[in-house]
Amino acid sequence: MLLSWIRVDLLALLVCLLCNVIPIAAVKHENFKRCDQSGFCRRNRAIADEATSNEDSWASPYTLDPATINVQNGVLKGIVSKSLGEGYGPVSFPLTITFLESGVVRVSIDEEKRQKGDIELRHGSVARKERYNEASKWAIVGALNNDRRASPSMAAEATTIIYGPDNSYKAVIKHFPFAIDFWRANEIHVKFNGKGFLNMEHWRPKIEKPAKEAIEAKEDQQPIENTDAGEDESTWWEESFGGNTDSKPKGPESVGLDITFPGYEHVFGIPQHAGPLSLKQTRGGSGNFDEPYRLYNSDVFEYEMDSPMTLYGAIPLMQAHRKDSTVGVFWLNAAETWIDIVKTKVRTNPLSLGTGRKIDTQTHWFSEAGLLDVFVFLGPTPRDIVHAYSDLTGYTQLPPHFAIAYHQCRWNYVSDDDVREVDRKFDKHNIPYDIIWLDLEYTNERKYFQWDPHTFPDPLGMQTQLDAHARKLVVLIDPHIKNTHDYSVVDDLKSKSLAVRNKDNDIYEGWCWPGSAHWIDCFSPDAQKWWTSLFQYKTFQGTAPNLFIWNDMNEPSVFNGPETTMPKDNIHYGNWEHRDLHNINGLTFVNATYNALLQRDPKVPKRPFVLTRSFFSGSQRMGAMWTGDNQASWPHLAASIPMVLANNIAGFPFSGADVGGFFGNPEKDLLTRWYQAGIFYPFFRAHAHIDTRRREPYLAGEPYTKIITSAIRLRYQLLPTWYTAFHQASVDGSPILRPHYYVYPGDEAAFHIDDQFFIGSTGLLAKPVVSEGANSVDIYLPAGKTFYDYFDYTVYRGVGKSIPFSAPLEKIPLLMQGGHIFPRKERPRKSSGLMKWDPYTLVVVLGDENEMHAEGELYIDDGETFDYGEGAFIHRKFTYAPSISSNAPMGILRSQSLTPPSKESKKAKAYLQSMEHVRIEKIVVINAPSQWDGRASVRILEDGQRERNAGLRYWKAEGGKTAWAVVRNPNVGIGKGWKIEF
Ligand code: GLC
Repeated sequence: MLLSWIRVDLLALLVCLLCNVIPIAAVKHENFKRCDQSGFCRRNRAIADEATSNEDSWASPYTLDPATINVQNGVLKGIVSKSLGEGYGPVSFPLTITFLESGVVRVSIDEEKRQKGDIELRHGSVARKERYNEASKWAIVGALNNDRRASPSMAAEATTIIYGPDNSYKAVIKHFPFAIDFWRANEIHVKFNGKGFLNMEHWRPKIEKPAKEAIEAKEDQQPIENTDAGEDESTWWEESFGGNTDSKPKGPESVGLDITFPGYEHVFGIPQHAGPLSLKQTRGGSGNFDEPYRLYNSDVFEYEMDSPMTLYGAIPLMQAHRKDSTVGVFWLNAAETWIDIVKTKVRTNPLSLGTGRKIDTQTHWFSEAGLLDVFVFLGPTPRDIVHAYSDLTGYTQLPPHFAIAYHQCRWNYVSDDDVREVDRKFDKHNIPYDIIWLDLEYTNERKYFQWDPHTFPDPLGMQTQLDAHARKLVVLIDPHIKNTHDYSVVDDLKSKSLAVRNKDNDIYEGWCWPGSAHWIDCFSPDAQKWWTSLFQYKTFQGTAPNLFIWNDMNEPSVFNGPETTMPKDNIHYGNWEHRDLHNINGLTFVNATYNALLQRDPKVPKRPFVLTRSFFSGSQRMGAMWTGDNQASWPHLAASIPMVLANNIAGFPFSGADVGGFFGNPEKDLLTRWYQAGIFYPFFRAHAHIDTRRREPYLAGEPYTKIITSAIRLRYQLLPTWYTAFHQASVDGSPILRPHYYVYPGDEAAFHIDDQFFIGSTGLLAKPVVSEGANSVDIYLPAGKTFYDYFDYTVYRGVGKSIPFSAPLEKIPLLMQGGHIFPRKERPRKSSGLMKWDPYTLVVVLGDENEMHAEGELYIDDGETFDYGEGAFIHRKFTYAPSISSNAPMGILRSQSLTPPSKESKKAKAYLQSMEHVRIEKIVVINAPSQWDGRASVRILEDGQRERNAGLRYWKAEGGKTAWAVVRNPNVGIGKGWKIEF
């Protein structure tokens, strides 16, 4: 960021100021490596090229010696050997294949010499000698029980293990060369090393070359012969990029593997990239990328659209999908990682012309360091993959309730008066919001934990004003700590040795927002403890319980570092090199902040809220993420949807993009459309760069302010539905936004669709308008399903095609699917906290004649504590069933408890009691049967109450809109069992 700032040409700035626009530039490609500028990427791609071009003669040099295999209690151990050619001894790689009770298999390969520390480091480095084996410590929290029944049968060429549900899976582990085929239902679904790209770069001593040769090799970076093994060692010992040199004390140590999904045409996942949900091929050709997808968490200034370039976060989970089958892999490695994707047409029937073809998707994964550690999921549904992955890496935090409402941010609200004023203006314009944010400039000269005494003299007063309407404040705390005198935080960091060290084992100093800075090393337990102490109310003075935290720049962003981050040879706690754990760095910082917030009120801990920019597998347990510094442009609005969807299917659904776009000033149409899309981001926050004009919704002017306000109100109206979807994500990892293939895994025509989505399991289907001037969208509706416009009940029948949907500026394309029931709250309030005791409305959406059943759920709790863990929540299932005989009621709507009896504790009872007076004030039935016309009332049977009636009003179908009915004030308890007879 800063670098680019400085580079902004003054004249350009002047011109821009004159015409009142902010320059929108493009990413500086030269700041980030391409594959051919990254040694291990180049080396692994070279193996793939060689293997592919000599397909018939290529033999992978890795074998699994059957004599070393030992299977016990669901774990296979053995030694994979790599032959180095005649005259050189084979290298040993201990292999562990663990069959888990969940049906997931974990394949890990280590390296014997490094494992034993039997190697020498160069340059006197203090780095650890082992391959990094702690990624799982941060990423994995469960589901590691072994399937002790997994049974082996050994033959000379292969060991076969039967495992999984009903013993329906099979892993065929081939010995010569080493490869694994994963079978389900008599078919191979995942192949390891089928192409022979497996690559474990073993440790070797550097053999010094005559000086001249070495210099030449370094200068032109051309491959030179390794006299030992004939390999290209030009990037083994040292690599330079953008003026930074990586000393690589451990030499080359990358791991690589080809993973093929036979018969699978689509692969999804591996966020974060700005591109389509269905991942593209990466080896060139029309419409394809010619670079691999990269995962190396980075602060990419002005990132570009439709690109495999790395961004701020990394989740190395991939799903492969075809009609009615989904499988997946999770590549657990925290180092820089690249993934190539190639799709090949394979003829399944050699006699057929044209038909009988299928697509295989071949993927090639390689990471710079660490173990080879891969989990294999055999599905068969997308849901199975996401759930099994989430069982391993943890579920989305159940956020405090306010966090799913609307967040108002900008860089910067400049003073506490400014905050108070914005707060008042929202109220004046009747626009709900829950959280106002303070960016960098609230600090005292960029010293975190200190308020600017001139602009924020009364932070507590400001928080008190916000609290009057149950509103919150979020402030930014970054991981770089200003290197200055008279700042106790940096003094502590130094004196307690809690900072990241450089390659020479001294404190690392780099450049970020505060200028010269040091970085807290949150891998260190002592650093975590210290961090906790900084957030205590007495330490971080001027903070109240309604203050929460934004962790930014945690990739980490270092303005003068290689690729705007830390040198890879920096040293962390445990003497691991930064290279080993880079992609986890951001997670550890948020983890420390999350725990610090927990410790602010230890007696009654409140759920923390932390926003992170950088993330890895497991970050979902600690808060929300956003897609970083986007631009106020239509393509960025459009890209935000597949980006958020990619996170949703990768176990981290609490995600969103800066509404309005970070850089630049959005035109009013764009801003309005962005709000209409943003209300569907699980994390819904407006944010803007310091150089942009103010754009709080009330400034837009009419009709925009009115349209934006009604969009925000729609979010608030549906908060009960959103919270229910968050709850589900918090117990099983389910996506909150669901792409089409996830909901309809058999609907082949729509696997590629990534610009519309369902909200949880509610049947609500949204397709935001994301292109300039558009007055309509085409919505794809699955065949045989009935949908209704959310606002006017126009009927849309799905035929397995896209159909046009009129969407002038004031219209949000949102449909309700028949067969669902969802809750909402209809009274407009200033904030979600003030809606706590408001009555509910249930919307019952009936399908066609032969689909007149409907169901849905509602989850509620206190929204702030962890008492839900002791049963203090309400979880109801609503079902509607039509009449089964002529003398029965014409339909019955029921509410049943989903609370397991084990949760019926004292706290549960007390909570239910506190909710006793919260009732349902309205039931809307969409597509109500015509027999209801003329009925004036319904019968209500509520547990513990006398039978009673409530009024019913019916509206006939007309002009393409379906009939509907309303039960007025049924007044049934939200936490009660009841039945309504129509
Ligand atoms: C980074 C963040 C951005 C923030 C800025 C200043 O660029 O991505 O959201 O406003 O830093 O803190």
